[in-house]
Amino acid sequence: MPRAFSVGLCKVSLVEGDITTEDVDAIANAANAGLLGGGGVDGAIHRAAGPELVAACREVKKTLPGGLLRTGGAVITPGFRLRARSVIHCVGPVYEREGARAPGLLASCHTEALRLCREHGLSSVAFPAISTGVYGYPLDEAARVSLTAVRDDLRAHGTPALVRMVLFGASALSAFERAADDVFGGTP
Ligand code: APR
Repeated sequence: MPRAFSVGLCKVSLVEGDITTEDVDAIANAANAGLLGGGGVDGAIHRAAGPELVAACREVKKTLPGGLLRTGGAVITPGFRLRARSVIHCVGPVYEREGARAPGLLASCHTEALRLCREHGLSSVAFPAISTGVYGYPLDEAARVSLTAVRDDLRAHGTPALVRMVLFGASALSAFERAADDVFGGTP
């Protein structure tokens, strides 16, 4: 049974699964600054969305300084062949490289993605565990930072109505469940 927590009228849920199958308004992607795809969840999302996604990213790149998305930033494209209507591409921090800046940059990925949801009238969004793969962010630390950022943003803005953290594997789910008990006070 997925764990779910309330923040005002909003719901934050934790599930184990493949984010490319999520039927939500938007899924967040753990992208890199170049936005042209990669491995991990980035590769899975591009494979599932089809070639139109990278073409849309090329168009977005033209609006970015030097064609690169800053760490902590987010941009939105359609979802194309995905069930999700949109993809919000976030660049998470490389843990070892960013050091003390890493938590703020990881939080920014989430708050920027939630800002885009509000700007585009999206009411449901799914996040992977950004930066916890190739970028080396320890799961327990990332879970706490990510969930805290989501909680505080939903408290401040009251939307989107649903935020789902989609964890790839039991250990990632457990890490987020442990963090959620602290962040949301254990009140499902
Ligand atoms: N659904 C949900 N989560 C997934 C999926 C999936 N289909 N595939 C992988 N993940 C999880 C990983 O297990 C990890 O917990 O996504 C999390 C983020 O891992 P990465 O995809 O490696 O992303 P990140 O650590 O942010 O590194 C980003 O990797 O793929 C490249 O282009 C990407 O350069 C960028 C870097």
